[in-house]
Amino acid sequence: MRVAVIGTGYVGLVTGACLAAVGHEVVGMDDNPAKIAVLGQGGLPIYEPHLADLVAQTARAGRLRFTTDVAEAVRDAAVIFICVNTPPRPDGEADLRFVESATRRVAEHATRDTLLVEKSTVPVQTGHWIQKTLALYARRPGLTFDVASNPEFTREGMAVEDFLHPDRLVLGVAHPRAEAVLRALYAPIVEGRFACPVHPDCRVDRAVPVLVTDIASAELIKHAANSFLALKITFANAVADVCEAAGADILEVVKGVGLDKRIGRAFLNAGLGFGGSCFPKDLRAFVKIAERTGYDFTLLKEVTRLNAHRQVQVVEKLRQALWILQGKRIGLLGLAFKPHTDDVREAPALALARRLLDEGAAVQGYDPQAAAKAREAVPGLTICPDPYAAAAQAEAVVLCTEWPEFVGLDFARLKAGMVRPLILDGRNALDREALTALGFEYLGIGRGRPVPTPPRTP
Ligand code: UGA
Repeated sequence: MRVAVIGTGYVGLVTGACLAAVGHEVVGMDDNPAKIAVLGQGGLPIYEPHLADLVAQTARAGRLRFTTDVAEAVRDAAVIFICVNTPPRPDGEADLRFVESATRRVAEHATRDTLLVEKSTVPVQTGHWIQKTLALYARRPGLTFDVASNPEFTREGMAVEDFLHPDRLVLGVAHPRAEAVLRALYAPIVEGRFACPVHPDCRVDRAVPVLVTDIASAELIKHAANSFLALKITFANAVADVCEAAGADILEVVKGVGLDKRIGRAFLNAGLGFGGSCFPKDLRAFVKIAERTGYDFTLLKEVTRLNAHRQVQVVEKLRQALWILQGKRIGLLGLAFKPHTDDVREAPALALARRLLDEGAAVQGYDPQAAAKAREAVPGLTICPDPYAAAAQAEAVVLCTEWPEFVGLDFARLKAGMVRPLILDGRNALDREALTALGFEYLGIGRGRPVPTPPRTP
């Protein structure tokens, strides 16, 4: 099928490259000429595992190309994805001006009956506004525009895998025509009929569940899913605080809780809090959406508040261990908002770096991918070429992002360079016993030492 993708950020690039990989003919369009120039030369403006190869392969095969010309992108397209960004306004509400302008331009330049699909995360009722905008600005008489909501559930760092092997597909439609187009588009993915670039020998043992709903419900599924995951993490963080005070171990507690099939173990990892371009923004937007319907979503407001407090708690832990923070050197391992990405948007590591700098500490950090973006975001932070340099002369090292390579570090070497061997494992990713045996003072999150049982009085 001929597909246009408007917006070549994370969502647009992954959508375009994956749809091209399963056989469609895709044109990616973006207003940013610098981005299109990079893509045209075979580069990627972001780091995402497998994506560079996928873009290169599909471009070579003639199934993926890029343009800044919206008319060229939408010409003859049977499906047009809107993947533009929806940044938060100061009050938390999503700013939909790019969605509106993309819709207007589709209305003006479409040359055939087409399906416009919202892929960006948008508030409920956006589909309704898109439909109205199309009707208002359509240039050619007689064209039929359908609208659908098809939220994406891909995680950064796993986006290609998540797109090609989704847990489910949600198709929010207002007309069976739109459902038929989307089912045809996704058939290779639903039936596992494509060469998997992530696991070349992978077998798909069941068809992907497809949920067809009305447009408003599909829009709400996205916000509700992200909010629930953020809530789940925050719950684990709260239990971790109780564990720490009570002398229990959060790792054991979430193991026991997560074995309940109704709960599951995923997204119960306590730590420095969640970040990224999705959870914090989507939570605030969902609170606003609810507010418009007259519902005060105090539960989600509290999640946002508790999450922002995670880094304050880490600063307090360091203060308790080091007494005075001013003038002390602190090393940060991992600066991206999570492993396998170079994205530092709302990264807990950078929020922590800013707080420590405000305290007058000297902060030095290392990240395998996010160094350049971190340097730009926090100018006072010293970026180091490797983890050992980030620990050099430090009074404490904080593991902020659990990149797998940190687990295998030469900790004796790391310790040798430090002024004081204090390690705060902000993601509970390291081996507490091994580090303690090496002579580190180890602090985790919610990993209380068992409180000694008081001797029984005879
Ligand atoms: C999230 C959702 O997981 C995707 O399903 C969704 O499609 C995406 O947002 C989106 O809306 O586009 P993403 O933001 O890429 O994906 O990252 P996650 O893997 O969900 O992690 C988010 C944050 O939560 C990270 O900072 C991570 O460190 C933190 N986290 C995650 C925890 O602190 N504990 C956990 O147990 C899991």
